[in-house]
Amino acid sequence: MTQIQQNIPLRQYNTLGIDAIAKLFATFNSIEELRILIENNPISGKAPLILGGGSNMLFKDHVNRLVLKNEVPGLTVVKEDTDHVYVKAGAGENWHGFVQYCLQQNWAGVENLSLIPGCVGASPMQNIGAYGVEIKEVFEELEAFHLGDKEVHKFNAQDCAFGYRESVFKGKFRNQYVIMNVTYRLNKVPKFNTSYGAIEQELERMGVQQLSIQAISQAVINIRSSKLPDPAKIGNAGSFFKNPSVAADVYAQLKTEFPHIVGYSNADGTVKLAAGWLIEQSGLKGCRRGDAGVHEKQALVLVNYGHATGQEIYDLSEDVMKTVYTKFGVHLEREVNVV
Ligand code: EPU
Repeated sequence: MTQIQQNIPLRQYNTLGIDAIAKLFATFNSIEELRILIENNPISGKAPLILGGGSNMLFKDHVNRLVLKNEVPGLTVVKEDTDHVYVKAGAGENWHGFVQYCLQQNWAGVENLSLIPGCVGASPMQNIGAYGVEIKEVFEELEAFHLGDKEVHKFNAQDCAFGYRESVFKGKFRNQYVIMNVTYRLNKVPKFNTSYGAIEQELERMGVQQLSIQAISQAVINIRSSKLPDPAKIGNAGSFFKNPSVAADVYAQLKTEFPHIVGYSNADGTVKLAAGWLIEQSGLKGCRRGDAGVHEKQALVLVNYGHATGQEIYDLSEDVMKTVYTKFGVHLEREVNVV
């Protein structure tokens, strides 16, 4: 049975590499273990903080509560039909490990989501997405433990209310559930998605003749590695901000002032702006304040060059938001969870 430990450094448990201290810390790998830890939580007045891969989290300060790291394992085929294989994955499984497992079996659907840091449990939490694909497209269902009634509830895609980097778990049920496992619906026959410009270019550069999910995965890995810092080398949490959407008339006005502005039309008529472009044009790409910085190759990513505190990263993010607002009148919203 896992023990509750005191004053544990969280640096290795968050990809930004922030030196925060957890007052209490334990890991769990089953519902039974989680139940026992919650029942014995010495800080009973404060809900525990559940940690997955720590790839989308900013510790602004030390954490004066019980931190529980989700290490629920498992990859199991639970169902199969003519077109699909349904794989149930433990929330603590490494995301890219799961993608590689699917590639080995030739099961399609997650190849565009290669190399995203973090764990399986985070994938529905914020409907992870990259290179033209979002997790909601292969999501079947999940099981989550409710911290209030201590029961396990099932959620289908509709229950999760997926949006752009959003779900009920980031919204109305925030801090109420612990995702235990996720079942994905993978395709036996691939539907290749190379709509995202950079993929086509990379496949061509690689000289790929015969398209495959393995080739797409490799193209995505190449693109990500060329732009996004490796958290093992430079602390970061991927995109720190979301790409903001604005009304069509606001976009039209911006376009007259800034003809090169990057925007993509949403189905509802609004336009999603590339926040990386806005930040770069505000002159902040590559800027550095102590050990906190804006990445030099992708301005949407804030980095920790060594020993930046969570507060320093947060302050830099405030400055970025203010500067972009002053220049463009556009509000940026953080994608990371600030704790
Ligand atoms: N751009 C700039 N300067 C920059 C960065 C981007 O001008 O410093 C421009 C690019 O030239 C391009 C556009 O902005 O025209 C979009 O850039 P990119 O393709 O790099 O994607 P992104 O919109 O910045 C989003 C996701 C990433 C995901 C990529 C690829 C969000 C918040 N981020 O970034 O997701 O990998 O698309 O699909 O939606 C993450 O969420 O952590 C993440 C890395």
